[in-house]
Amino acid sequence: MTWKGICDQARDHIKPNCKACLVCDGRACGNNVAGPGAKGYGDVAIRNFRAWKRVRINMDPLVASAPIDTTFNFFGQSLEYPIFAGPISDVTLHYGSLYDDTKYNRVLMEGCLDAGIRAFLGDSVDVHGFATAMSALKETGGAGIPTIKPWDMSVLQEKFTASREAGAFAIAMDIDAGGLPFLKGRMPPAGCKSEKELADIIQSAQRPFIVKGIMTPNAAEKAVRAGAKAILVSNHGGRVLDGCPSSAEVLPAIVEQVAGRVIILVDGGIRCGVDVFRALALGADAVVIARPYITAAYGAGREGVAFLTRKIGEELKDAMELCGARKLADISHDMIFCDGIKGTPFYGK
Ligand SMILES: Cc1cc2nc3c(=O)[nH]c(=O)nc-3n(C[C@H](O)[C@H](O)[C@H](O)COP(=O)(O)O)c2cc1C
Repeated sequence: MTWKGICDQARDHIKPNCKACLVCDGRACGNNVAGPGAKGYGDVAIRNFRAWKRVRINMDPLVASAPIDTTFNFFGQSLEYPIFAGPISDVTLHYGSLYDDTKYNRVLMEGCLDAGIRAFLGDSVDVHGFATAMSALKETGGAGIPTIKPWDMSVLQEKFTASREAGAFAIAMDIDAGGLPFLKGRMPPAGCKSEKELADIIQSAQRPFIVKGIMTPNAAEKAVRAGAKAILVSNHGGRVLDGCPSSAEVLPAIVEQVAGRVIILVDGGIRCGVDVFRALALGADAVVIARPYITAAYGAGREGVAFLTRKIGEELKDAMELCGARKLADISHDMIFCDGIKGTPFYGK
């Protein structure tokens, strides 16, 4: 199995919306929604991808050889790598008929489990579609993280109960989902929440809560005050608001604001192990990768998902070895320099 082979096979299944590119950099799909593209002008996903490349790695091979440990503990789950597969929903709408959301989520969770990581599960814009993701979650022993849209409280309570009954160890919310074109004008409504509303939501979830869609230090602070145990720095891959900065650009200021109080995840354009290293060196604890897992699942199912995970995990190990990091906590600012990202080493020099 090779990554190129997986992409070639995926391309036969997901035409015409996604080109299953070898490197998913946002250019081929542009602003194609439905499909994997970004909203409006369509350059946010491209900017996400490019920003990581401005973080350069300071190689130092003059260190004693030792085993590399990439294990990461996340709310009691011991993971092989600090990597999660991202939530994707409404796959038939975006990628054609090979999978529905239940099958996609099952393949994603099983492949992730095989490689020792966990998947986030998307919440369909169809308010009842979530039940199918939950049956897949139950079948895998609660090995995924339901990512629920910001509906009104009565819908949320039903979905939290279903998540707990399916065995979820944590629950997430894509708090930015109100920006999705398909959610506009829905009944029941979904949309932005005040800090107080978020605090009530987190309390009723009764699980460690992850807020996805944080792009400013101010929003991070509100999420922490509301009781989030983790935040996911994300602009939803450019799908909710045109004109956002990249997640890499805003990450350092958010890390500084949060100052170790909650776990920080980041997504958006992370495509290889070196990108994971870059994100951790900028202060993230772990990363989420979404679109490439779609290619993996459409190209080679469960095995493709596991293959992609191990490929990126091994690339991360290589980067750690060449920079003298033996465990994740060793990855530091000293190991990178940045080409013009505010709040990063050598900014402005
Ligand atoms: C087709 C598609 C569907 C998505 N569905 C969801 C979803 O249901 N919930 C969610 O939180 N994010 C969803 N996302 C956003 C991703 O989880 C992720 O935040 C974004 O794509 C950035 O990561 P990436 O650049 O690795 O793809 C979706 C993205 C795509 C492309």
